[in-house]
Amino acid sequence: MNTRSFEEKRIEAGRRLGISPEAIPRHVAVIMDGNGRWATERGLPRFQGHEQGAKIVESLATHCVNCGIEYLTLYSFSMQNWKRPKEEVDFLMYLYASYLEGIRPSLMEKNVQFAHVGRREPLPQDVLDALDETVRITSVNTGMTLGFALNYGSRTEIVDAVRALAQEAKDGQIDPQAIDEQVIGDHLYTAGWHDPDLVVRTSGEMRISNFLLWQISYAEFYVTDVYWPDFTLEELDKSLLAYASRQRRFGDTKPKTPTQG
Ligand code: FPP
Repeated sequence: MNTRSFEEKRIEAGRRLGISPEAIPRHVAVIMDGNGRWATERGLPRFQGHEQGAKIVESLATHCVNCGIEYLTLYSFSMQNWKRPKEEVDFLMYLYASYLEGIRPSLMEKNVQFAHVGRREPLPQDVLDALDETVRITSVNTGMTLGFALNYGSRTEIVDAVRALAQEAKDGQIDPQAIDEQVIGDHLYTAGWHDPDLVVRTSGEMRISNFLLWQISYAEFYVTDVYWPDFTLEELDKSLLAYASRQRRFGDTKPKTPTQG
């Protein structure tokens, strides 16, 4: 099992990339886009783009583990994606259920904790079972957290948080005046996580697509024209190097090292 500390891995990755260990992001969030175009340009049906996109996830996640990244969140299916043709949605649901079952041994070997980021309703029961079982068996792990944003929408996440807080206030469990940024963060699906430092988007679109709107307030962006199925470990390294070259100020005038808050 992979039990080296995040710090040790960051030192090694920093050495390999020629950057300081502090310049490695703690949380990377990825908008995996371009599967459809990748397939269409090859004269293939769209589902083959998704299949190819799924194939590269494991090696990229392992690379993040080896770099000492603490959280990797993958935007796998948005609440808006239900609008796609039924055959494509059905295929993606089948893909996630079988994929999750297949990666469990690797998650255990790499000491990765798995998390579902999103609403449960209306995910099919076999997908919910696959998510729950993967969360359950990896809960003993202490390494990187791999978040699957599945049936995820940021505005809906905020609605869910507001509803929960309103209920707590109604029940007398919280004083409305005590609601601050920390309390809101604690009611999001990512409660307790370090906010994303780096958001990567493939296939060139310059949009956020309702992804982690609250959490990415101070994240750095890296957009590449490469389609998701072609996103290699070298491409991931390029995004890490771009991040390391940014000066983050968090509203201050003085630059901080990239992962300082
Ligand atoms: C965008 O491509 C991708 C998605 C809708 C998410 C699905 C992602 C995968 C299947 C790859 C990762 C798999 C796992 C198991 C995490 P698109 O169809 O929007 O592409 P397009 O914009 O070119 O049409």
